[in-house]
Amino acid sequence: MNRIILGDNMNVLPTLPDSFARLIYIDPPFNTGKKQKRDRFKAIADEIKGKRTGFGGKSYRTESVESGSYGDSYDDFLGFLMPRIEASLHSLTADGSLFVHLDWREAHHVKVALDELLGRDRFMNEIIWAYDYGGRSKSKWSAKHDTILWYTMNPDEYVFNFDEMDRIPYMAPGLVTKEKAARGKTPTDVWWHTIVPTNGKEKTGYPTQKPLGVLNRIIKVHTSEGDCVLDFFAGSGTTGEAAASNGREFVLIDDNPEAVEVMKTRLGKFIPTIEDDANRKALADNEGRTVKHSR
Ligand SMILES: C[S@@+](CC[C@H](N)C(=O)[O-])C[C@H]1O[C@@H](n2cnc3c(N)ncnc32)[C@H](O)[C@@H]1O
Repeated sequence: MNRIILGDNMNVLPTLPDSFARLIYIDPPFNTGKKQKRDRFKAIADEIKGKRTGFGGKSYRTESVESGSYGDSYDDFLGFLMPRIEASLHSLTADGSLFVHLDWREAHHVKVALDELLGRDRFMNEIIWAYDYGGRSKSKWSAKHDTILWYTMNPDEYVFNFDEMDRIPYMAPGLVTKEKAARGKTPTDVWWHTIVPTNGKEKTGYPTQKPLGVLNRIIKVHTSEGDCVLDFFAGSGTTGEAAASNGREFVLIDDNPEAVEVMKTRLGKFIPTIEDDANRKALADNEGRTVKHSR
């Protein structure tokens, strides 16, 4: 069922089938100070009129709003992001996980909004991805980390494949046995990992591409073979490559035709069809028959 869908995720998400993804990973555009031309649809909680039952039995409808640019204030960013996250939750399995990749500009605002949306008891980890690349500020501590928030739909039942974790070197290998040092240790919630190497073969040229190592770790630990992963800010398709190369399936959405071109090249061998907005209904109808879960 691997899919790449070109379209505004606010438009596409409500049309996806229920409960097909064990994991949602998103890496939305950060609040970078640029004006963004985005919102065209809005998910509105609606007890009576809502056609789709979302997370926690809440129903909602999508309503067209005036097209235009959204300003770069924090409020606007949440106004952009949160309805999209809410519109995606119906696609998660009851034991599914949501990973939201952010940076220092937005992490705290989104954490509070997600606690409100999902409840604090569904919050599992704040993962810090630390890297070390590029120049150093001489006027403040250089920001060299991203924040990845993990929420689970059910804190009593979720996927956490401890044995699937990649091992990392001990900081002081001389203090442990040779066997332990050779095996390495399991990572904590602070992940040291290089950015995508500029000249490495992983590099697609798409801006903001995230490293495969980070996505491999998330997907191996938080899904099982045969599960499906949804990424609705898919960019160059890192999530898709990590999913497919680990025996998982993917549904990727991006509204930028350039991103879809990059994904076609990168993931072509795994994809039966490239969908666009016009085909999304067919996709939704079709998925009902083709989606399989492996537990
Ligand atoms: C930070 S990038 C994702 C990078 C990706 N994680 C990777 O490794 O390549 C964010 C992506 O979200 C897409 N995007 C922004 N707004 C969107 C929307 N409303 N619907 C779908 N995609 C959107 C952008 O086109 C961009 O490709």
